[in-house]
Amino acid sequence: MSDQVVFKKPTMNDGYALNQLVKNSPPLDTNSAYCNLLQCSHFADTAIGAYQADQLVGFISGYKLVQQPDTLFIWQVVVSEKMRSQKIAKRMLEALISRVKPTFIHTTITPDNTPSHALFSSFAKAHDSAIDRQPYMDEERHFNHEHASEELIIIGPLR
Ligand SMILES: CC(C)(COP(=O)(O)OP(=O)(O)OC[C@H]1O[C@@H](n2cnc3c(N)ncnc32)[C@H](O)[C@@H]1OP(=O)(O)O)[C@@H](O)C(=O)NCCC(=O)NCCS
Repeated sequence: MSDQVVFKKPTMNDGYALNQLVKNSPPLDTNSAYCNLLQCSHFADTAIGAYQADQLVGFISGYKLVQQPDTLFIWQVVVSEKMRSQKIAKRMLEALISRVKPTFIHTTITPDNTPSHALFSSFAKAHDSAIDRQPYMDEERHFNHEHASEELIIIGPLR
C-alpha cells in the first residue's frame, strides 16, 4: 500500500488538509489554518508531504534556524493513523534531508512520545550519527503547566 505513496514539496493548497491531519493526530498541538498555510508556502522548501491518490497522508514541517542555517528545525511530523507503521515518516524524513542537506537536525519531543523518539533514533542510527537529548521547554517555566516539557533532540553532524 505504501508503494502508492508519493513524496513532494507542499503548496499552499495543502494547508487546510494539513490542518485537519494534525487535528486528527493527538498528541500534536494544533495550529491555526493560517499557520499551516504558511508552513506549506513560505516554508515549503523545508517541508515535505506524503500523498496517496492526491490525498495528504503525511507531512513534516520545518525551517532553517536563522542564526544557524546549517540546522534544520523539524517542527512537526505527522502520518495519518491508518497509514502508520509503513515507514512513511522515515521515508519522508530521508527525502526531506536529501533535499535540504542540513548538517544538524533539531527537533523537540515530549519524553513520553515513544513513536517520535523511535523515528529520530532510527534515523540517527541509519546515518551513523550522534543523537543528543537535553532539557528545553519546561512544563512549569515555559508552559504554565498547560503542556508537557519538550526535550531538544540534536542529530548530527550528518555527512
Ligand atoms: C510519529 C509518527 C509520525 C511515526 O510515523 P510512522 O510512519 O508510523 O513511522 P515509521 O513507520 O516511519 O517508523 C519509523 C521508526 O519508528 C518506529 N516506530 C514507529 N511507531 C512506533 C511505535 N508506536 N512504537 C515504537 N516504535 C515505533 C518504527 O519501528 C521505525 O523504526 P525502525 O526504522 O527502527 O524500524 C506517527 O506515529 C504519528 O503521526 N504520530 C502522531 C503525531 C506525533 O506524535 N508526531 C511526532 C511528534 S512531532
